[in-house]
Amino acid sequence: MSRRKKNTEYKTQSALKSLVIDNNFLEIVPPIYEPETYKLIRDVPEIKQFCENFWQWNEHVPWLVYPDSQPHKELMNKLTHFMRKRVGKSCIDLGCGNGEFLEFLLQLGECTIEQYFGVDLDWQTLAAIPRKLKNTAYCGKKVYLIHMAAMFKLPLRDNSVCSAVSSLGALMYIWKWHDQNGKLVASGRDALKLGLKDVHRIIKPGGYLGISAPLPHPNWRAIRNEALRHIIFHKFSLKKIWKAIYHGTKAVKYSEFMNGLEGEGKAHYLSPEEWKEYLKEAGFKIEEIVDDCYAGQGVIIIARKEDPS
Ligand SMILES: C[S@@+](CC[C@H](N)C(=O)[O-])C[C@H]1O[C@@H](n2cnc3c(N)ncnc32)[C@H](O)[C@@H]1O
Repeated sequence: MSRRKKNTEYKTQSALKSLVIDNNFLEIVPPIYEPETYKLIRDVPEIKQFCENFWQWNEHVPWLVYPDSQPHKELMNKLTHFMRKRVGKSCIDLGCGNGEFLEFLLQLGECTIEQYFGVDLDWQTLAAIPRKLKNTAYCGKKVYLIHMAAMFKLPLRDNSVCSAVSSLGALMYIWKWHDQNGKLVASGRDALKLGLKDVHRIIKPGGYLGISAPLPHPNWRAIRNEALRHIIFHKFSLKKIWKAIYHGTKAVKYSEFMNGLEGEGKAHYLSPEEWKEYLKEAGFKIEEIVDDCYAGQGVIIIARKEDPS
């Protein structure tokens, strides 16, 4: 074998090795599944642009702000506290990002999930999840990664998961709905209604849906300012203050496209009353609604699919 070929083979093997998770969690990184319908719609210019905006946001914002953002931590803590006894053994995370919801749930120390389905339009965030879970209590449990924009039927069977979550996630960005051949069947709020019905379809009777979302016309600056206030009063450090201002201001800038989406009817930042109405219409019963969170810019809703038996 030539030296060059040997080298290449060695490099490939070590690259593969770095993908192999050594604590028996997953022998290989799970394949990322991409539904056929997504392949049909993802090059539609409006959808492509939408996805690209989120890729950019995902590349910059979570790493910049999440570690120091008290409003984000509080929101995640509230959502996970509500959901910890409700997630059951299988959970689909819509717009899962880097798996923040599961990460926070695991930090609570009791996580019943054995099958986690992560759905996101950004494959890079999906690919980061197994490594993130590597040294956690999730060891040995199943992860399924689904690369798609939630704009058509989810690739899961009826009544198949115990719970669904959308933690600042995909539910509120269902602004188009397509049939399985990629034909557009609804836009705007009508698309959201079909999306909610589809989430209802896959949840088992008696199962739960947990949502956190911005309220209408969110003020991203208020979230940054609250993060800053928390650092000044609770863990004063000049470095952290500087980071909160610098990174927070960048994050505000990166997040501005979301206000544009809201204006175009592509982001459903709903009031609690509107969430109630849409969820009831889709067949859910509301169990909890909290709107004094995320620096006054967010809402958490816990809903249940009724069990007719
Ligand atoms: C604000 S981040 C939230 C990430 C994470 N769930 C959290 O709690 O921090 C929104 C995520 O939803 C994804 N997303 C937005 N719209 C989506 C859609 N229609 N379908 C699938 N993923 C979507 C984005 O790529 C991004 O990863």
